[in-house]
This record gives sequence, C-alpha cells and structure tokens, in this order.
Amino acid sequence: MKNAIRNVCAQLLSATGFTLFTLAAGCFSLAAVPAAQAADSVKIGFLVKQAEEPWFQDEWRYAEQAAKEKGFSLVKIGVANGEKMMAAIDNLAAQKAQGFVICAPDVKLGMAVERAAKRNNLKVMSVDDQLVDGSGKPIASIPHMGISAYEIGKQVGQGLIEEMKSRGWNMAEVGAMRMAFDQLPTARERTQGALDALKAAGFPAANIVDAAQAKTDTESAFNAANIALTKQTKFKRWLVFGMNDEAVLGTVRAAEGRGLRSDAVIGIGIGGSKTALNEFAKPSPTGFYGTVLISPKRHGYETSVNMYKWIAENKAPAPLTLTTGVLMTRRNQGDVRAEFGL
Ligand code: GLA
Repeated sequence: MKNAIRNVCAQLLSATGFTLFTLAAGCFSLAAVPAAQAADSVKIGFLVKQAEEPWFQDEWRYAEQAAKEKGFSLVKIGVANGEKMMAAIDNLAAQKAQGFVICAPDVKLGMAVERAAKRNNLKVMSVDDQLVDGSGKPIASIPHMGISAYEIGKQVGQGLIEEMKSRGWNMAEVGAMRMAFDQLPTARERTQGALDALKAAGFPAANIVDAAQAKTDTESAFNAANIALTKQTKFKRWLVFGMNDEAVLGTVRAAEGRGLRSDAVIGIGIGGSKTALNEFAKPSPTGFYGTVLISPKRHGYETSVNMYKWIAENKAPAPLTLTTGVLMTRRNQGDVRAEFGL
C-alpha cells in the first residue's frame, strides 16, 4: 500500500516538475502513515445477542477492563435481532470505529455480517457463536473464539453420571432431559457431548427426553420443560442438561413446580456466571447442582485485546480459539473461580 502511494507520488512529481512543493510534502507525509494506530484513536464495538444474560454482561465487563488497560474506547451494543445488528454495524462505522467483536443473534447471518464489515472497512471477529455461510459452513475468514463445545458437553454428562451414582439412583428409573436448541451448532455440540457421555456410562437411550427451546433464555427453557414434563410422568428422578445455565435453570424451576426438588433433580449447566452463582448462594441446594465454568474473561478481555492488536499493530487474531471449562458446584465454586482468575 505504502509502495503504491510512493509510486503514484513519484509519477506525479516527475510529471509536474519541481513546482509542486506542497504536493510533494503531502505525498511524503501520506506515505509515512504508520500501519499502527494510536491507542486513543482506536474504537472497538462489542455486539452481543442477549445483553440481559449474565454471561454477556460478564463478557462486556472484561472487555471494558481491556479497554481501560490498553486505552481504546469500547462501544457495547445489544443486538437482539438481525435488524438491530445491521444498524449497529453501520452505526459503528459512522462513529469511526475500526473493528468489532460479535456474538450474532443468528449465526446464519454470517455472510451479511462479513459484507457489512467489508463495506464499512471494519475488522470483525466472532465470539461464542461461530458465524456460518449460506451452506452452514463456518466462515473461516472471520477469526473466532468459542468454547470447546463437545468436550464441555462431555464434562456435563460425566458430572451428571457421577452425582447420580453417588446418590445411588437406579438409572433404569431416571429420565434425562436434553434442553435442545439444535439450530445453533455450538448448542447442538454441547448437548451431543453430554448425551454421548451418558450413553458411554450405560444410561438407557430410551430414558432420554428432548425438549426444544424456542430461544436460549430461562423462560423458553421453562416453557419447553413444562411441556416435556407433562408428557413424561413416569420418571420421578431427572438429570437435566442443555446449552447453558439458563436452559438448565428454566428446567429446574419447571420441575420444582411439579414438586421435583433437589433430591429428585440433578441439573448441570454451562456458564458459571450470575445465573449459576445465584443458585449456589441460596440457603439450601436446588436441582441446579452444578455448571461447567467457562471463561467470560477470555471471551471478553482476550477477544477485545486481540481486536485491538489487529487494529493498532496489524496482528491478526488466531483463526480459531476454543476455550475449556471445569465442573463447578456449590462446594468447589470458590476454588474453581479463583483458578480461572475470576
Ligand atoms: C452461547 C450461549 C451463551 C453462552 C456462550 C458461551 O452464545 O448462548 O449462553 O453459553 O455461548 O460461549
């Protein structure tokens, strides 16, 4: 790029001779523009699909920490649907941002995100939910940080089996509720991991019940679980898993409504933000037995720093980063959170 500018300048100068002093000066200062950008002129957007969810609140909090440390400005926008998302991207460009991190409301909007970013000359990376193209394939040109969904799902399944065994339940009489949101790849992979762990431990496939959530929040899980529990009256004990803490919490609340409490329900979520911590803080245990803690710090702080370095130092982020999790319960919450630097 700089060479191209120099060439144009050289041609202009030789064509116009020695009279255009100012033009020459202009050319040289243009050619000398460094690739790096001063920190205080860097502006980064952080767009999330569900701003009210504690996980995303935490991500934003850690992104703020990165902004403070590095000295860039952060623009946080909730993008509950495609329309809001497109408006937010245009709005970032109008504010002279140079890039954004996004967890889109629908991963199938991937191509639209990529086009909008290009049109506005914005760098883009995704977090949590990897964007896909028209055929459902991940868009490799957009760097991504997500959780290692299948492995974390397996940890959920193993945790459920372990707790079920320690309670001495007879698995032939236990139901397992899979809160499903299969249109989202990371959600499908998470619950598949849990399912496979249950099956590997000999849990009867016939006892597994699917409940499809319309959205990924607590209320949608509550509604879906109520329908499933109405249909399935033969099980008096349940294992519960889903894509996040909200999926499990909604199910735990629905089960409570039917008199199924902590002695009859073992739910393990994924997340470990306030949704889980509030349950653990209750005076007596609920059916929300545990969660696999994942790191909002990595997803919020690290993605923002990566975007900052991309803009300011021209260092592109790794194409794909998958983060890990650790099983957290009431008992070990302090230690596990400390281990994660939270
Ligand atoms: C998805 C879920 C969130 C959270 C993140 C973690 O976006 O909707 O609840 O689990 O993944 O990556």
